Amino acid sequence: MQEFKPFKEGKVREVYDNGESLIIVATDRISAFDNILKNKITDKGAILTQMSKFWFDFTSDVVSNHMLSVDTKDMPEFFQQERFDGNSMMCKKLEMLPIECIVRGYITGSGWASYQENGTVCGIKLPEGLVESDKLPEPIYTPSTKADLGDHDENISFEQSVEVLEKIYPEKGREYAEKIRDYTIALYKKCAEYALSKGIIIADTKFEFGLDENGEVVIGDEMLTPDSSRFWPLEGYKPGQGQPSFDKQFVRDWLKANPDNDFLLPDEVVTKTVDKYKEAYELLTGKEFTR
Ligand SMILES: Nc1ncnc2c1ncn2[C@@H]1O[C@H](COP(=O)(O)OP(=O)(O)OP(=O)(O)O)[C@@H](O)[C@H]1O
Ligand SMILES: [Mg+2]
Repeated sequence: MQEFKPFKEGKVREVYDNGESLIIVATDRISAFDNILKNKITDKGAILTQMSKFWFDFTSDVVSNHMLSVDTKDMPEFFQQERFDGNSMMCKKLEMLPIECIVRGYITGSGWASYQENGTVCGIKLPEGLVESDKLPEPIYTPSTKADLGDHDENISFEQSVEVLEKIYPEKGREYAEKIRDYTIALYKKCAEYALSKGIIIADTKFEFGLDENGEVVIGDEMLTPDSSRFWPLEGYKPGQGQPSFDKQFVRDWLKANPDNDFLLPDEVVTKTVDKYKEAYELLTGKEFTR
């Protein structure tokens, strides 16, 4: 049997090279305040992988995606182990475009900080009088470039995204930049509206796109998980203040209340957090999560 080693380990996911395809494995690791916690959140990886699958299916009429299968039976024998069951997605290998496609429907985080300073978010002028966590009149597209390891991603304007792509793909930069912007907005609108009807606000999110073997723009990476997005509970939503995170609320609250913690959560906080991931999955998909 062929052995596999991840060629890439992000904070939370592992990526395996399988020739024409990749196998992206979401682990049960969780990060909060930019640190990986010592606990494993049981089933988090599987829940997030199944959530991405749901969104890829839900939006396949808007844009093609890289998903090939989430069934390990379709993958090499090595992946037919329990630790890969449910949390692995076999994906078409793409040539990734080096732009993080961020879309914001609500004003929060760094966007809120910048708006308070000068009324703009990433160079986009917003109406006066917005309060923290307000819904924006229209979702805004605020791309960034993927920084090298350790650096923070850098916000760029739409025109800069054209230049970045033009350098790599002469004559094609504007076309690709426009496509990924338009897909990003269309995907966000469709999915945020749906999520809202299920009781979840998707305040913002990040998509990644790549080119397939025919040079078509395809969506890759993960899609609309709480790791790539801000999910807020609709219940209790109140502009004028920060909102609790749908999934990490208990983790963050506990870490803040226990500043001398060693990034090791009590079992009770872990259990409550697992339940929040399940709840998000069940609200969005209408299906019970089972392994
Ligand atoms: N279909 C695909 N083809 C090629 N590369 C892909 C595909 N889908 C996703 N990727 C890339 O795989 C990598 C997944 O890595 P991952 O997100 O775990 O780590 P990261 O982005 O470097 O760090 P972070 O933990 O901050 O997200 C990313 O570089 C992403 O761009
Ligand atoms: Mg990533």
